[in-house]
Amino acid sequence: MTRRRVLVTGASKGLGIGRALVEQWAGEGHTPVGIARGAPQSFPGEFHEADLADRAATDQVLGEVMGAGPVDAVVNNVGTVRPAPVGEVALSDLDAVLDTNVRTAVEIVQAALPGSSNGPWAAW
Ligand SMILES: NC(=O)c1ccc[n+]([C@@H]2O[C@H](COP(=O)([O-])OP(=O)(O)OC[C@H]3O[C@@H](n4cnc5c(N)ncnc54)[C@H](OP(=O)(O)O)[C@@H]3O)[C@@H](O)[C@H]2O)c1
Repeated sequence: MTRRRVLVTGASKGLGIGRALVEQWAGEGHTPVGIARGAPQSFPGEFHEADLADRAATDQVLGEVMGAGPVDAVVNNVGTVRPAPVGEVALSDLDAVLDTNVRTAVEIVQAALPGSSNGPWAAW
């Protein structure tokens, strides 16, 4: 069996989707690499604490993850919502949601691409 190193964002919480995927893949012999703001008491793989809403923290953690070896697959599970009637949506909230949900997903996929040189982590 090919053992894969799988990066899962939002991987910490017991009942969360990311953590459930981590448990399944670890049980199948793969190596989960988890990221969340708070470290769980235990984790069946590599775990990194980082707030992915923070660009500098995202760059740093991707440097650490990619510096430890290539990633074979990515699950962009972290996401945020700030629900409001459309007439009341604050544009600052819209910016924050797009940044966390879209910028983070693109940045993580870029970092994981083979031969990636598109980002500060590439120098790590
Ligand atoms: N559950 C549902 O019914 C449902 C439905 C539709 C879509 N979704 C989407 O599916 C995803 C997972 O949902 P879930 O219910 O499994 O969520 P959850 O149980 O709340 O888990 C979210 C995970 O993301 C981490 N996280 C949150 N913000 C983060 C940040 N800024 N940086 C790094 N890690 C962060 C959390 O840990 P920390 O708090 O320690 O950072 C936790 O590990 C979310 O994107 C959600 O919007 C869920």
